[in-house]
Amino acid sequence: METEQELYSGKAKSVYTTADPDKLILHFRDDTSAFDGEKTEQLERKGMVNNKVNAFIMTHLERAGIPTHFERLLSDNESLVKRLDMIPIECVVRNITAGSICRRLGVPENMDLDPPTFEFFLKNDELHDPMINEYHIRSFKWAGDDEIAVMKRLTFEVNDVLKALFLEAGILLVDYKLEFGRYHDEILLGDEFTPDGCRLWDAVTREKLDKDRFRQDLGGTVEAYEEVAIRLGVDLS
Ligand code: TMP
Ligand code: ASP
Repeated sequence: METEQELYSGKAKSVYTTADPDKLILHFRDDTSAFDGEKTEQLERKGMVNNKVNAFIMTHLERAGIPTHFERLLSDNESLVKRLDMIPIECVVRNITAGSICRRLGVPENMDLDPPTFEFFLKNDELHDPMINEYHIRSFKWAGDDEIAVMKRLTFEVNDVLKALFLEAGILLVDYKLEFGRYHDEILLGDEFTPDGCRLWDAVTREKLDKDRFRQDLGGTVEAYEEVAIRLGVDLS
């Protein structure tokens, strides 16, 4: 499958059309951004590692019954996906406190959350992805009631599947962000699942193995992503 033209270029991925109107190619770049694009850097190998980790996780989710846009790996940095009509909302589940919830609610980092908590954010960098609730989604018609219900159900199902997958690899799934889109009459998981969009801590030491290494200038960002890939059994060759 060959790329035709660039449809969209995000902060870490570019999206290309293909000869098939129902398929797109995702190109995972080495660009790394944080704080809504305020801090950016090129991290060598990150695009390749994320492309392969994403392929592994999306395939695992499909096998567990979660419908996703993922079709197949095409090359080190490219994957073929179904073309979705994206819903401009981010679904976040948190199993342990970290990041924005600590700032917003004044709670300490590293509190286990039982039950896990769920938040919606509007995907809008200029507005710094504000937190929204279901009433905003309905009133502004970003998604319908049925779609909201499906996004919530699938986001929690992903939690059960991936918490177990990561724990087997000695990793805690602290939190993560998912995006969904419409494909004909179905809602599918879109975008990506990589250490760029979740928090992963070593289960014993609670060392950070995700993009917080970059956000907080801890160093060794790509090495940590590779460690996650190796522990999961992802083929990086
Ligand atoms: P937060 O703590 O900044 O709200 O983020 C929660 C989780 O969701 C964290 O793993 C990062 C991820 N996330 C993104 O990847 N992109 C986003 O735009 C947002 C709001 C969260
Ligand atoms: N992904 C967003 C950005 O690049 C938010 C973040 O990860 O901090 O700005």
